[in-house]
Amino acid sequence: MLIIYTLFSLTCFVYSSALRSSELHIHSGGRALSALQRLLNFFESNPKNLNVDGLYGLRIAQGQLQALEQMFKSAESKRTHLTDHNQIVSMLLTQTERIANISLDALVSEQTSYLNQFFLVASKPFVIEYENRRIDKNFIVLSQRSSQFDEDDSDQCFVQLFESSRRVDIQKCTISESCWSMLTDQIGKDYRLTHQLLWFLIAKNIGCINQKFATQHLNRLEDLFCTNIYEDAKLNFVNHINQDLFLEQVLLCSMIGYQDFLRSDWFHAVLTWQHPEYDCFSEESEQSEYRSRNRRHLLVEQEMDHGCLAHKSGLAAGLLATYSRVFLQEY
Ligand SMILES: *[C@@H]1O[C@H](CO)[C@@H](O)[C@H](O)[C@H]1NC(C)=O
Repeated sequence: MLIIYTLFSLTCFVYSSALRSSELHIHSGGRALSALQRLLNFFESNPKNLNVDGLYGLRIAQGQLQALEQMFKSAESKRTHLTDHNQIVSMLLTQTERIANISLDALVSEQTSYLNQFFLVASKPFVIEYENRRIDKNFIVLSQRSSQFDEDDSDQCFVQLFESSRRVDIQKCTISESCWSMLTDQIGKDYRLTHQLLWFLIAKNIGCINQKFATQHLNRLEDLFCTNIYEDAKLNFVNHINQDLFLEQVLLCSMIGYQDFLRSDWFHAVLTWQHPEYDCFSEESEQSEYRSRNRRHLLVEQEMDHGCLAHKSGLAAGLLATYSRVFLQEY
């Protein structure tokens, strides 16, 4: 039996089986792609308005869309169950790359040291391995964790990592002892914790973690980080607070394969946060008493047109692309 799902005006996936849960996944994947498309159109209306953080979110989206496109290409030759009939994924991938290119040029011309430091991840798609797995409750840290951290210190650990891969006089992938102990401590919470994980994901992305032992060690750390990030994310969700942080939490752990973060109640909430008129992510979706208080720490937030937020919208782009990739590959 051949069923054609028209998921939104521009796309249809042709699917030749009839499993219920598959239908749901395809439907969700389509909704995520549709939301992503609206968000990309917002970015494209003024791509020079993005900051480095927003651009990094787009680079994550680009990496996820690439993986999805790849899946469709190989599926065509092997299984041909699911076909991207109208090439919507390729189209969104090109659009993401186009916006990222314009945004990068604009940021380069501003010559900020912040871009120089993060150039390595802002200038190309962020590709990260996806490994299907679950959090492990045994890793929950029972003692009190702390969200306190010095943004400059944390920034320094990223800078050391980038410097070591750029400069010839330093051995690649070396960092100071103080950074190492900060990055591997088990008492982090909120942004402090997500940035510990982010540091390791970037280290892996630029080729600093490749031996078998290191990989096993990292897997354990990822279990530890994502299990506790999950606890933090649950609190944000039930208390209706910290949407920006919540997006970061769900993005980082779902893009490396933690299934627990793909909950449909979370997915549907994120969809409702998209601005109905401007299609971006702003503060309007948050209860007013929480606005501005808990904005992004490490990398600065920037307001775009219509009160849209660059960091929050960038994270949302990365997350919507991740949702599409995971839902459609797991169908
Ligand atoms: C983006 O920039 C890269 C590197 O300069 C280039 O290879 C690519 O064709 C550009 N893509 C688009 C869609 O403009």
